[in-house]
Amino acid sequence: MKFRFLTSGESHGKCLNAIIDGVPSNFEINEDFINNELKIRQEGIGRGGRMKIENDTIIINSGVRHGLTLGSPICLEIINNDFKNWEVEMNSKAQEKNEENNKKIQSKFISAIRPGHADLPGALKYNHHDVRNILERSSARETAIRTAVGAIAQLILKPFNIYFESKTLEIGGVCYDNKEELIKLIEFTREKGDTLGGRFKIIIKNVPVGLGSHVHWDKKLDALLSYAIMSIGGVKAVEFGLGHNVANTFGSKTHDEIYYENNKIIRNTNNAGGIEGGMSNGEDIVIYASMKAIPTMKTPLKSIDINTKENVTAHFERSDVCAVESCAHVAKNMAAIIIAQQFLSKFAGDSFYEITQNYNSYMEQIKL
Ligand SMILES: Cc1cc2nc3c(=O)[nH]c(=O)nc-3n(C[C@H](O)[C@H](O)[C@H](O)COP(=O)(O)O)c2cc1C
Repeated sequence: MKFRFLTSGESHGKCLNAIIDGVPSNFEINEDFINNELKIRQEGIGRGGRMKIENDTIIINSGVRHGLTLGSPICLEIINNDFKNWEVEMNSKAQEKNEENNKKIQSKFISAIRPGHADLPGALKYNHHDVRNILERSSARETAIRTAVGAIAQLILKPFNIYFESKTLEIGGVCYDNKEELIKLIEFTREKGDTLGGRFKIIIKNVPVGLGSHVHWDKKLDALLSYAIMSIGGVKAVEFGLGHNVANTFGSKTHDEIYYENNKIIRNTNNAGGIEGGMSNGEDIVIYASMKAIPTMKTPLKSIDINTKENVTAHFERSDVCAVESCAHVAKNMAAIIIAQQFLSKFAGDSFYEITQNYNSYMEQIKL
């Protein structure tokens, strides 16, 4: 598959990495664009203290020369500034000898598993007694490097005028545009030691007809996009166009009638959300997704100690109260990755030139 990638890195490890394979040559890579995407991911209402420590900046270790892709794997890196604080803590811990300090070390060991996180299934599955070993990788910090991969996907699609937008629609049931109410709700929630989720929308413009396929279940574009967006920690629902409302209405109110005017196929509605039969149909792709409330809570939920099985309250450490805007931004970049994968598979070639030729020839073929 084109544009395959793998990420590595823990939340407080030295860095996050990704290697992307299957990027053709001679695509322009603008580092400022990638850094801006990383910056947006760090922002948003309700974010915690960690984002004040980090200043996510991309390091491109391979696969790009003089601003152009080489056709070889692209290795990306983002340094975790918080690692420095982490490292000091670890080193001093190693030096601690007396009993008092040993107690401190024990308290850093996490066994009070957090409901709603990977803690319980992860610790049991990987046979870890210190839940830190699960928490570090399951943290959404990993979405920083995914955002960088998504930014490269966006840059690949840019010359073909395909672009992506994300918009937060609501947080905790309050309309996103009602900023005054929203700020009140976030402050109230923060004071209570509670958390919030929300709903967002992604729009993808100018996707040519025919990305994805009706032929195989695992090539359907809506399925691939859902998979990618659902893979972001906290996302619990993904919908296209009318979404869950398709269940409550007539066919005549569901399907988008087709007209032909001025040498163009047109529709007056887009209830399908730009995908029919698993393929892009030339309309905007419209996706809605819902994120659950953040599971790390200052007023913690009841839980158990994974080792002793005693009743305890769940572990708490610095955390977001709400991360819906950031999640929407990550989802936009995940969507870009899927569209780039499908685009590069359809117009396959080893260079920008070859892909452009294939794209132009196809666009000529489907011209009406
Ligand atoms: C951008 C972003 C930031 C997040 N920040 C936090 C956080 O600070 N604390 C936390 O407990 N969960 C945070 N989450 C949510 C968790 O990652 C998520 O709830 C957890 O991985 C379990 O998700 P799952 O139930 O979908 O597997 C964040 C998610 C995203 C996308």
